[in-house]
This record gives sequence, C-alpha cells and structure tokens, in this order.
Amino acid sequence: MPQAQLTLDPHFTVGVVNRRLFGSFVEHLGRCVYDGIYEPTHSTADAQGFREDVLELVRELGVSTIRYPGGNFVSGFRWEDAIGPKDERPARLDLAWHSTESNEVGLDEFAGWLDKTGSELMYAVNLGTRGVQEALDVLEYTNIRSGTRLSDARIANGHPEPYGVKMWCLGNEMDGPWQLGHRSADDYGKIASQTAKAMRQLDPSVELVVCGSSSAQMLTFGSWEHTVLEHTYEDVDFISCHAYYEELDGDTGSFLASAVNMDHFIESVVATADSVGAELKSKKKINISFDEWNVWYISRYHNVDKITDLESWPVAPRLLEDSYSVVDAVVVGNLLISLLKHADRVTSASLAQLVNVIAPIMTEPGGATWRQTTFFPFAVTSRLAVGSALEVKLESDTYVSATYGEVSTVDAVATHDAETGKTAIFLVNRSQDAPTTVTIDVSHLGPVSIVETHTLADDDIYAKNTVADQERVALHPNETTTISEGSLTITLPAVSWTAIALA
Ligand code: AHR
Repeated sequence: MPQAQLTLDPHFTVGVVNRRLFGSFVEHLGRCVYDGIYEPTHSTADAQGFREDVLELVRELGVSTIRYPGGNFVSGFRWEDAIGPKDERPARLDLAWHSTESNEVGLDEFAGWLDKTGSELMYAVNLGTRGVQEALDVLEYTNIRSGTRLSDARIANGHPEPYGVKMWCLGNEMDGPWQLGHRSADDYGKIASQTAKAMRQLDPSVELVVCGSSSAQMLTFGSWEHTVLEHTYEDVDFISCHAYYEELDGDTGSFLASAVNMDHFIESVVATADSVGAELKSKKKINISFDEWNVWYISRYHNVDKITDLESWPVAPRLLEDSYSVVDAVVVGNLLISLLKHADRVTSASLAQLVNVIAPIMTEPGGATWRQTTFFPFAVTSRLAVGSALEVKLESDTYVSATYGEVSTVDAVATHDAETGKTAIFLVNRSQDAPTTVTIDVSHLGPVSIVETHTLADDDIYAKNTVADQERVALHPNETTTISEGSLTITLPAVSWTAIALA
C-alpha cells in the first residue's frame, strides 16, 4: 500500500486564507441565469423570480464573491440595456454564445439576488466593444450615492442605496482571439491602465483585476502578463489567471495531477509579476485573482454544443452542461488544495461557473435542483478552511504521469485558525489502484481531537449525480481515522478527496 507522511506546524504559515478564495461566477451563458438562478414560473420562485431551491444550495455551497456578468458575454454587453422597466429592455444578440439575451435580469436584479445569498459582487466591465466611459458609467451607477444622472437613475429604478462594489475586472480574456475586441498586450495594457486610473478617480477604494492569460497554454502566456503589467502595475491590485482541466484520451493519471499544472501556473505568474515590480522598482505586490477555474470538457463544447446557424439565436440554450463524475470532483478538490497552498498570493478565485454551466449546481426547468459531485469538495473546503494556510511538509510515494512526469501520489494542505484552534486538513489520493495510508504529525498543534472527516470516493470513479439519480454520489465519514499521541492516521481510498477537521 502506498504511504505518505505529513507534518503540520501552526508556526509555519503560507498566508491568511482570504474568504474571496471561495468565489464563483455567474455569466449570462446558456442556462446559468435564465432557467438557472432565475425562473419566475418555478414553484419555488420568490417575488423577484429567483428560485428558492437554488438559493438554498448556493448558500450551502458557501460562495464568497460572485463574478458577473461574464466571461466572454461581457465583451459585447451593454449594461444599461438591462436596467429600468423590464418591458422596455431590448433583446440583443449575444455574439459570444450565439444566443439571444433578453436582458430580463441585469445589475439591479443580480445585486438583489446576491443579498439573498450573502455573497459579494465582483463586476466585470466591457473592454471588448466598449471602453473608459462605459466603465465609469456603470461605476457611477453602482457606487455614487445620489445627485448625478446615473446614481439618480439607480434610485429611480428602486435602489436608494449605492451597491459599493469593490472588486472590478477590467474586461475578460482580452488575450483570446475569440474575444470580442481582442487586442495585443500592448493595446490592452494601455486601455486597462486608462480605465483603471479613471475608475479610481471616481472611487479610489475600488480593487481592480487586470486580465492575465486565458490559459497557460496560450502562445502569448508570460509575455502577455509582462507587457500588460508594465502598463498597469501601479494601477491595479490583481492579475487574473484562468484554467480549465479535462480528462483527455483516457489519461486519468495526468488528469488527476492537474493541480501540478495549477501550482506551476500560479508560481509562473507570481514570478512574472514580481519581475515587473522589480524592474519598476515598485514596493507594491500584485496578487492573483484566479477568477475562472474548474474541470471543463471543452472539447464537447467545440464538437457538440456550439451554435453557429445564422437563423438560430436561442434564448438560454443548454450549453456547457457538463455532468461531473467522482474523478472530476477529486480534481476539483485538488485544485482547491493548490489555491490554498498559494494563499499568500492567490487572494481571490472564482469557480466557473455556479449553476448549470460547468457548475456544481444543476436545475431542470419547472423541476428539481441537485448537487453535482464537484459541489462537495467546494462546500466543505469553503466551510472548514479558516485562519492561515500552513506550510505543510509532505513526503509521498510518486507515480509517473504522461503529461507532468513524476508526481506525488498524495497532495495535501492544511489550515489553522489561531483564534479558535480549529485545524483542517485536505488531502487527495491520486493513485488509481490502491488506497494510501497517511500518517500526520499533529503534535505541534497541542492536544487535538477529530471533529469531522469526509471522504469522496466510489468503486466507480465515473459515477455521477444526474436528474434521474440525484444522490448517487455523496460524502462519507472516513472511519479509518485514528489519533493517538500526536499522530493521526487515515487511509485514503484510491482516487479520493478527503477533509479532516480537528479542534
Ligand atoms: O466559463 C466559460 C468561458 O470560459 C468564459 O465565458 C470565458 O471567459 C472562458 O473562456
């Protein structure tokens, strides 16, 4: 049986775990908004048309920030189309997803929905087909109290208090040739810097995210970050990272090691940002907003789902509705471990997306809502990871993956809250054929006891929760856990994700 040893010491911390690490993303894409969070004719719909059953799951998931309204959608979006009386709002073509946008839900409705979820709005401005003025307009609408055309328009629309939006994305994936208004790093860096300066002139308290690469596989990755930050270093707080992973050609071993790629991606962007900071002789540090990450079977979108017919611009089509398996959830749990391991520099992140579209929560129109497998590691990590991420010492057996070479069989991270004494440990076993026993030295924590354990595993690693079988996959307590004299032992099933809470 493969073995691993882990040592925790609360004196050695990586950084404070920012709640914003547990953000998500709602894009006007497919059925994320319409027939997802919003369905006025559903039996659970509230007075604003939002599904209560979905709201309950969003609360249970424990999402902190929610990025909105895109994604690729935002690069063609006219935000003012989606405010004011609903019957006066125009329907528009959404070129990003070849759909029709009714504009029935916009900024005001979404902000109202966020109040019900208890999450924070992270708003993306359109720097694809628009620019500085439109970014200023939407900021005036959200953050100015009253007495100007747009703040008074918000009040007239029934929202007397400003929204006080802090987190703003300066466009979306502007390095991607698919993006409306795609431009070179130099051109984007200039417009992003101008927009950032103008936004801060209006509200100096905003926190700004400049677009990094849309994946580490982009040919411009690295040089894009460098050039964009040369233009914007003193103007912004974050640079974004986006990464999606999928199992390709049956190579489960490489897929299970996706977090190795995420670790490397984060460390490369941090190194690039710091090198620009050094060149500019700046004392400031740029942090990472990993504002799109997940498992996404993107090849399915390109080969099956994509709509191109000029006669067909459907409203809320079924797009990117990936159904997630146990192995997908183990990878998602491992990606969360990677984010926590870099908590000093990754201080914001968004699981893409929230409902129906590559999402932990699924719905049927007029029907049920249910948790995908990926729901579980996210909800538990969000609930248990408090305090600081610890710099753990891990020794593990290894295996050779086709894509990443030799990788460790077990990956792990821990968090510790000095105030409450609560500690949480998150682990994955990437072995496909054997359980792994992990011995964890918890002696530096003082006397501790096990409060809860959760393991996600299944004899069928491709088992899923579906509309027909909504609770096929669930978390189970890990009955193998023992603790004695400062040493905790646990056996992790093959292809599994586990969380342990200690007090
Ligand atoms: O999340 C789906 C899409 O992936 C987003 O719209 C885009 O930003 C990314 O390419």
